Amino acid sequence: MKKILIKNIGNLITISSNSGLKKGHEMQHFPQIKNAWLKIKNDRILDFGNMEDWEGIDNWNEFDIIDAENGTVLPSWCDSHSHIVYAGSREQEFVDKINGLSYEEIARKGGGILNSSLILKNTSEEDLYNQSMKRINEVIKGGTGAIEIKSGYGLETEQEIKMLRVIKEIKRTSPITVKSSFLGAHAIPKKYKKNPDNYVEIVINEMIPKIAKEKLADYIDVFCDTGFFTVNQTEKILKAGLDYGLKGKIHANELAFSGGIQVGVKMGAISVDHLEFSSDKEIKCLKKSNTIPTLLPSTAFFLGLNYPPARKMINSGLPIALASDYNPGSSPSGNIEFVMSLACIKLKMTPEEAINALTINGSHAMELQDDFGSIEKGKKANLIITEKVSSNAYIPYSFGKSLIKKIIIEGKLYNDCNTNN
Ligand code: NIG
Ligand code: FE
Repeated sequence: MKKILIKNIGNLITISSNSGLKKGHEMQHFPQIKNAWLKIKNDRILDFGNMEDWEGIDNWNEFDIIDAENGTVLPSWCDSHSHIVYAGSREQEFVDKINGLSYEEIARKGGGILNSSLILKNTSEEDLYNQSMKRINEVIKGGTGAIEIKSGYGLETEQEIKMLRVIKEIKRTSPITVKSSFLGAHAIPKKYKKNPDNYVEIVINEMIPKIAKEKLADYIDVFCDTGFFTVNQTEKILKAGLDYGLKGKIHANELAFSGGIQVGVKMGAISVDHLEFSSDKEIKCLKKSNTIPTLLPSTAFFLGLNYPPARKMINSGLPIALASDYNPGSSPSGNIEFVMSLACIKLKMTPEEAINALTINGSHAMELQDDFGSIEKGKKANLIITEKVSSNAYIPYSFGKSLIKKIIIEGKLYNDCNTNN
């Protein structure tokens, strides 16, 4: 395979020397090189530097050249929270919301997650894979180079396993790196409404052992919120997951002060996600832990929720990761450039903080920081090349419009990637 030289890079950003998680005021910065070049060998970043110090190339035949035409080059997005494997869609509930129903009211009526679960049951594994791969290809074009995908629309052992097998097949066949989370505790199925603890028992005694045996999940997730799973149930499920080596990445405090943040921290979760309901108490709890607060502003936007206090979190020294939450009910979009705009406009994060939250911090929230999330020699060459922009701020400023011109995945121009091999 030939090496690649990207020349005329207007700005090469989020260079790192240690892949560290960025916390508090560190999120404000990343090294950048104006007027840069970058070399790729196989699927990895070989080297990079300033065009002015350019020593030339001995053998041009060794290289394919990509002209960045003064655009910005940055690492691909690391989307650490998605439900991109699902069947069908739920736009009728979208209309119900326009007409005044809330997310919780729709869920109580048997809609929401249970609605998706019914559609999924009537969808074959192959069809589910095809529907999901379409979305994977869509998010790759939007700059995502690594993604976490959850189960959670099965809600029966066999159906949860079907979802996780589809995720496994996506891992094998998609050009981007995928991590999978088992989210059997996403909603209480109808027949367990009166005795939800019986469903928790099934998650713990039936689903987790089977999934662990087949090595179908990297993490375990629980929707710890009002109307879904309690703190006690969450703790039991996270403990059972840990017994099988599955660390937590959980849904917490999206709909109320659920205690989800505290139980996630107590159980050593890698991340607690959503956090629309966070007070000083929750921030203090997070400060004493290594759990990464992960914010999903598309969901707050789509459901009309209050936005989480990102500024307070960063000012108190916390790290933040941002992700899409791509799912049919609360965020039917995997558009990360839009997430970045929302982070700036609604969460009052600076463009640099938002970029760090979507790259290096997102990679930590999937434990992929050794390979993804920053420009470093030896890291995967998963890169975004934008059109020429006047500054980093121009990217979130021009919301709703993609500035991405080229995508490189594993050292190949994405158009050259065969996504089915
Ligand atoms: O992250 N909060 C729980 N799960 C998803 C929504 C799932 C759905 O509505 O289908 C979320 O918002
Ligand atoms: Fe989610």
